[in-house]
Amino acid sequence: MGRFFFVPCRLHFQPMDQQQTLSRIQELTEALNEHNHRYYILDEPVISDAAYDVLLRELQELENQNPELMQVDSPTQRVGSLPLSGFEQLKHSTPMLSLSNAMEEEELVSFDVRVRKDLELDQLDYVIEPKLDGLGVELIYVGGVFSAGSTRGDGFTGENITQNLRTLKALPLRLRSNLRPIPAYLEVRGEVFMGHQDFEQLNQRQLDQDKQPFANPRNAAAGSLRQLDSRITASRNLLINLYAAGRIDEFSVDSHMEFIQALKDWGFPVNDRYRLCPNIERVIQFHNQLENERESLDYDIDGTVTKINRLDYQDRMGIRSRSPRWAIAGKFKARQEITKILSISPSVGRTGAITPVANLEPVQLGGVMVARATLHNQDEIDRKDVRVGDTIVVQRAGDVIPEVVKAILDKRLPGSKPYVIPDRCPACDGHVIRLEGEAKHYCQNISCPAQIKGRIEHFVAKRCMDIDGFGTRLVAQLVDTDLIESIADIYTLTLEQLANLDRMAEKSALNIMEAIEISKSADLWRLIHGLGIRNVGEHISKVIANKYGSLSALGGSTVEDLEATHEVGPIVARGLVEFFKESDNLEILEKLSNHGLNPTLDVSARSEGIFSGLSFVFTGKLEYFNRDSARVLVESLGGASANSISKKTDYLVAGPGAGSKMEKANKLGVKILTEAEFRSMVGAD
Ligand code: IVH
Repeated sequence: MGRFFFVPCRLHFQPMDQQQTLSRIQELTEALNEHNHRYYILDEPVISDAAYDVLLRELQELENQNPELMQVDSPTQRVGSLPLSGFEQLKHSTPMLSLSNAMEEEELVSFDVRVRKDLELDQLDYVIEPKLDGLGVELIYVGGVFSAGSTRGDGFTGENITQNLRTLKALPLRLRSNLRPIPAYLEVRGEVFMGHQDFEQLNQRQLDQDKQPFANPRNAAAGSLRQLDSRITASRNLLINLYAAGRIDEFSVDSHMEFIQALKDWGFPVNDRYRLCPNIERVIQFHNQLENERESLDYDIDGTVTKINRLDYQDRMGIRSRSPRWAIAGKFKARQEITKILSISPSVGRTGAITPVANLEPVQLGGVMVARATLHNQDEIDRKDVRVGDTIVVQRAGDVIPEVVKAILDKRLPGSKPYVIPDRCPACDGHVIRLEGEAKHYCQNISCPAQIKGRIEHFVAKRCMDIDGFGTRLVAQLVDTDLIESIADIYTLTLEQLANLDRMAEKSALNIMEAIEISKSADLWRLIHGLGIRNVGEHISKVIANKYGSLSALGGSTVEDLEATHEVGPIVARGLVEFFKESDNLEILEKLSNHGLNPTLDVSARSEGIFSGLSFVFTGKLEYFNRDSARVLVESLGGASANSISKKTDYLVAGPGAGSKMEKANKLGVKILTEAEFRSMVGAD
């Protein structure tokens, strides 16, 4: 028990001088951190929550009156602070590696064989731990004080989430030095995750507030940790366990077991389900035991991690490019159950993608009640031949959304019919179509209520209309308060409407109004890109803006005409034509145009030449040209080149080996040229 352990509350408030105040602040800080450790790490609280709160409030008041006296490890800082505008990047001093996976028991055995062969050993100790299903983070302590923390990122550079990590109650703000000296500089790594109960409660709150629930606790933890507003993180009750070292100066232990002990001595939370094993058989035994216990844990684990215990052996094994050769993750098998499909409903996502969802007779699966499972898309339904009324196998793999694995055909009811995704959107009745080469069906209506937030966010984004200040939160506010229902409504917003929104300053509202106004003169490609037409990204938007020069010209084009554009393939062409067929979309374009969004590009400025108005297709092996140089040449002479033959093609230039294109050209009466003839046309012979 530390000397600071029981700190009486001050019952008689007499004025204190600066020195006394400082002592009291230090005393309270130390005591509160100690109680925190007892509560969150040792699970042995010695004072009531109410008594803790009294001390915390006293500290808060003293700090408010004397902000300069606040300690670096003050527990009052766990509540979160003002929002950031973005996360800084933070480079890891040594890369945060990932782990190679063993899906089957045999792979753990061959890992052991390989390792012992390399180390020339008959016997080797391993430590096996649960593989926590959360987010990898790094914590940095300088002089024993929590100084910075980051996400794993790409393994080399992560995001600086210090403010958010500080709100995690189990994270020590100052390390304990009574059992073991504290290295001057210390980096440790671990997992941030969310318990099942907190996950359920959070999702309930999300639903109550009409927000999207999280798919699983890992996503919820990630979403909570990557908040710019750390007060939100603070409200989410995230957990953390440490399990690996980064750079640690002047510190040495011989084994992972000792390292775990050091983590505990310093006051870090460590998952207690680790086990030292003298051989791989015992590792496998414990792996299976954890797999069985998995359902009874109140947090998700998706496997185990087995590490060579001795650090000198770890060093000798070394690392591959991204993962250590001294550790391996053992994955758990997917959890399966049998149940029935009551109905299938198409659900529309934020991009308009339609996902068929099976409504199930509820069944317990890995500790949670499952009532819905994804069927992914029409091909999956067809391949598995899953029907309403079927008895099916459902599984949760990697703890994502449950999926239907297969139908048990013996139990199929007579008279059942294959399921076909309807051709109308369940949210807006717009047309649902599936383009060639796409797995998913999509609702074509850009004003579909299920898609509207995502669509508006895309429209205002930097690489589209670039409306500054129009962030995700504003979009959500505007849609939720019915101020906008489509991208066109952005241009009907008034200053008053914006300024009246929650947490909107007059000045910001003015800036946004100005940004909206400026966007009216955005380039044509930005508007095309902003419409969010399937497969029409920034580059294709520029290509077609250059070719057509206006939205009306683009809207009036045909699949063939579009396909005759270099880089525009059949899928993009069809997607564009379908987009301009949807009457709701045309209505939006008209509204945009009425608001002054009518960008045009002078297409007549393009080069004129002997090939003006002519369209070429190249096929077979060419001797002097490749496809690209031929295309560039044709375009420089005012012509167009396409990949496939259509009625609009004027010439097919065919080299040896030309096949189906030749036949098609013959059928359509397209003139066929040899390469030599083409060369003489361009004067290149
Ligand atoms: S050790 C050098 N131990 O799994 C290996 N990782 O797939 C460093 N993870 O990025 C990691 N539980 O986020 C280790 N007990 C555990 C773990 C664990 C979960 C995560 C970690 C890592 C990922 C690798």
